[in-house]
Amino acid sequence: MFSFLKKNKNNLTNLFSEDFVDIHSHILPGIDDGAKNLDESVALIERMRSYGIKNIVTTPHIMESVWDNTPAIINGKLNELNAHLKSIGINDFNVKAGAEYLLDSHFNKLLNTEKLLTIKDQYLLVEISYMNAPLNLYEILFNIQIAGYKPILAHPERYLLFHENFKEYTKLKEAGCLFQLNLLSLSNYYGKHVKKVAQKLLEEKQYDFVGSDTHNLRHLDFMEKINDAKLLKLVTPILENNKLLK
Ligand SMILES: [Fe+2]
Repeated sequence: MFSFLKKNKNNLTNLFSEDFVDIHSHILPGIDDGAKNLDESVALIERMRSYGIKNIVTTPHIMESVWDNTPAIINGKLNELNAHLKSIGINDFNVKAGAEYLLDSHFNKLLNTEKLLTIKDQYLLVEISYMNAPLNLYEILFNIQIAGYKPILAHPERYLLFHENFKEYTKLKEAGCLFQLNLLSLSNYYGKHVKKVAQKLLEEKQYDFVGSDTHNLRHLDFMEKINDAKLLKLVTPILENNKLLK
């Protein structure tokens, strides 16, 4: 099935160059809602390799009381995965780790007390709840930048609270927030409404980067279905931007 898709030039999975880096995924084994074990991590990596992806900065959740990950836990799992990849002869796939920080009160504590895990340099991947933004969202974004980080908001198209208040997206960009599109939002995986918002944000050139946000093979099954020529044309220049974060 995949070899057929690979031949179809009009498919997202044919657009990744070797310098592309996927900056959002959950492929470290057993530390969040992504890959459950090393075998699943490898299965995800093998599938992404078949698309020509060679670089990942994977981003486990850091979410108080749900996924209490720390840089030490994440780096420990990263070392475990990289050692395993080497032991099974996968040497052409570069995995680094950052994190996906939920902007909650715990995050404010971390921001004041420790060095945060970035995607590269000062680029920090953050998310908020899908239903409610923190009351002091703009204050947090300001504090992130005062601390020297550049916030990248994960999947802005998925936040239902902004769908009826589209001006909020412009406001967030003006507040220094960069936007990362979830590639899966270009399929119907999150629903037609999310897809429509993603298309609008693409047309308005609001996105800075993309990410797959891969948690499991089902996500990649959906990614292989993205073949809308109009959307692919809109997303192609943003795939290029991701090379800056390699
Ligand atoms: Fe994520």
